[in-house]
Amino acid sequence: MLIKAPLDSTHIDYLKNIGILSSNEEVTDSFKAGEGNMNVTLTIKTNKRTIVLKQSRPFVAKYPQVPAPLSRIEIEYKYYNIISPDNFLSCFSPKVLAFDKKSWLLVLEHLNNGGDYLSMYQSKSILGENVLDLLLSYLKKLHQLPVYEFPDNMEMRKLNHQHIFVLPFQSDNGFNLDDVQDGLQTLSERVKNHTPLKAKIKGIGDKYLGRGKSLIHGDFYPGSWFETDNGLKIIDTEFSFLGDPEFDLGVMLAHLKMARIPNESIQRVIQTYPLENGLISSYMGVEILRRLFGLAQLPLNLSIVEKEELTNDAINLIMNEEI
Ligand SMILES: Nc1ncnc2c1ncn2[C@@H]1O[C@H](COP(=O)(O)OP(=O)(O)OP(=O)(O)O)[C@@H](O)[C@H]1O
Ligand SMILES: [Mg+2]
Repeated sequence: MLIKAPLDSTHIDYLKNIGILSSNEEVTDSFKAGEGNMNVTLTIKTNKRTIVLKQSRPFVAKYPQVPAPLSRIEIEYKYYNIISPDNFLSCFSPKVLAFDKKSWLLVLEHLNNGGDYLSMYQSKSILGENVLDLLLSYLKKLHQLPVYEFPDNMEMRKLNHQHIFVLPFQSDNGFNLDDVQDGLQTLSERVKNHTPLKAKIKGIGDKYLGRGKSLIHGDFYPGSWFETDNGLKIIDTEFSFLGDPEFDLGVMLAHLKMARIPNESIQRVIQTYPLENGLISSYMGVEILRRLFGLAQLPLNLSIVEKEELTNDAINLIMNEEI
């Protein structure tokens, strides 16, 4: 059963049949929960409560021509399950109310008055030092969880690998970056024509596809940080796997840098969570470049000159492995 908003009586009957809604529950409203590309995510209001339904499709919901594994929603479910015995980490998750594997449907607690941190590129002050500390504490605790078995999530990683380590650096990738911002296409040639840089990025991409020692979130960027009435939540865990903790940290630092958070804060993060510095800087540099020149664009508030500086900084991060 494929859901879409507004839910019709077939959807509601199905949800009642499998016990997601109780027999006397009336759906009063249903609509898109928020902006998302990968899945169909709906808020459902009933006469008793508000819940969120998230369903995967065998393709990216926003780009149906791009195949994506259905099992990603089960990865999300398994991630929340595996961290749930940890009292600290579980406070950051929406409660899992149900999972229906037959229709690849995850039911989550609705997070009240929530909003992500994607506006921090426009106004960096929304990410206070207290939130930064929470994000770091979350990562440290997550990466130290004794998890020895978790699905390898390889199909999702391969999809991500293409968009992070391959396509943004291909000359003939079909993205017209001047549609995003005048001059961006020309700027992208600096990385597309940089052979030693591309060789380095290939090696980092291979590392991403290898097995690491920690459970990682896999998409730890401001779109997954969700501020609510009940404090900070970490959502959208479909890219998780046993990988390098440096990947989560490097991605997070890349977004701090793109939001122009001062370098002192970035240095403080590295000092309070010491990992392999060279690997952090490599993942950080690649994440910056792929957000500048790849398909997954962000609402960045940067002139082309600023993007040029950022490109040079990212190249240095990758080539010199120093933050
Ligand atoms: N439990 C929740 N409570 C309230 N709103 C939610 C909840 N889960 C998701 N949302 C809203 O729906 C949006 C999409 O959710 P989510 O990021 O999990 O979906 P996605 O399809 O995996 O997105 P993406 O393409 O970014 O990977 C979120 O940005 C948020 O606004
Ligand atoms: Mg997602």
